[in-house]
Amino acid sequence: MTPTSILFVCLGNICRSPMAEGIFLRILAREGSSERFVVDSAGLLDYHQGELADPRMRAHASAHGYTLMHRSRPVTKADLDRFDWIICMDDQNIRGLKQLTTNPLHWEKIHLMTGFCRDMNASQVPDPYYEGDQGFEYVIDLLEDACEGLYDALSRGLI
Ligand code: 4NP
Repeated sequence: MTPTSILFVCLGNICRSPMAEGIFLRILAREGSSERFVVDSAGLLDYHQGELADPRMRAHASAHGYTLMHRSRPVTKADLDRFDWIICMDDQNIRGLKQLTTNPLHWEKIHLMTGFCRDMNASQVPDPYYEGDQGFEYVIDLLEDACEGLYDALSRGLI
């Protein structure tokens, strides 16, 4: 069966979306579902292309048992064709993606990460780049909750 492909998108692709990718990959491993999905992340900006995730994000991720291996890359128009689902961290990301395409088939793939939260209540995953430790911890808590909801929604064919 063709795997379902998911692209997590944020602005720089060094904090939120690589963290979402790491969390989702661990859920897949836990559920024995790694073969069923292709997972990647990308950013609207290319400033950090080729870099590992921000050292602060990696340190907080590591404290929660995640090793982030992704290297930053900018999102491309081809990604909008290639991926089944494109999961954004905030409204600014969605606006940026929608500027890349007017194709309604592309727009239908784009969802907000926090729409999948189960326990937490937030409208966006805030950018932790200019925040302290608490900002990074909050991003992990929020993404763990939302990724569980996303996995559940995909498994049950709700999106
Ligand atoms: P991210 O955070 O979108 O969660 O990766 C950011 C990282 C870097 C920048 C912006 C946001 N930047 O402007 O360099």
